[in-house]
Amino acid sequence: MDTIRIKDKTFAVSIPEADIQREVARVANEINRDLDGQNPLFVSVLNGAFMFTADLMKHITIPCEISFVKLVSYAGTSSTGIVKEVIGLNEDIEGRTVVITEDIVDTGLTMQRLIADLEKHRPRAIHIASLLVKPGKLEVPLDIRYVAMNIPNDFIVGYGLDYDGWGRNYRDIYTVCNE
Ligand code: IMP
Repeated sequence: MDTIRIKDKTFAVSIPEADIQREVARVANEINRDLDGQNPLFVSVLNGAFMFTADLMKHITIPCEISFVKLVSYAGTSSTGIVKEVIGLNEDIEGRTVVITEDIVDTGLTMQRLIADLEKHRPRAIHIASLLVKPGKLEVPLDIRYVAMNIPNDFIVGYGLDYDGWGRNYRDIYTVCNE
């Protein structure tokens, strides 16, 4: 399928499955090399990261644990107008090496908030592994240690990413077409 239609928009394939899989395996190998001996805890951010996390974990060969969190947004009083609360982390992360697995870092505000919350529990280190980064949209300084691919600012779907809840199921990544 070269193009897909979701609601009012058409999307065209921009990153084929084979390219995604190659880069995910590369990131996993970097993590295997860098974090050997640290027994990391992977923290996957639902919903978007479910596919990336599953494929990444199939290539992780060092001892590790995995957990899943969700970020719930509220209308609030922060500068962005949105406050996100982390729910679902039951593990004690004090002294642990944590690897956050995320689908995409856009402005970086979500990741900044998640890291601030996790740091309260005094982990040894927190690393970010993001499938995608839009460097042109980053608004906050973030040290993203593991990146599968940098992409332009366009809106994308597929491989876990959605448009209004739809499109997460595709194995390729699609970019919205200008209509
Ligand atoms: P940030 O807080 O601006 O970095 O936003 C990150 C979140 O926005 C991601 O976890 C996605 O859920 C969503 N997001 C950002 N860009 C896209 C996109 O192009 N397609 C689908 N979701 C996106």
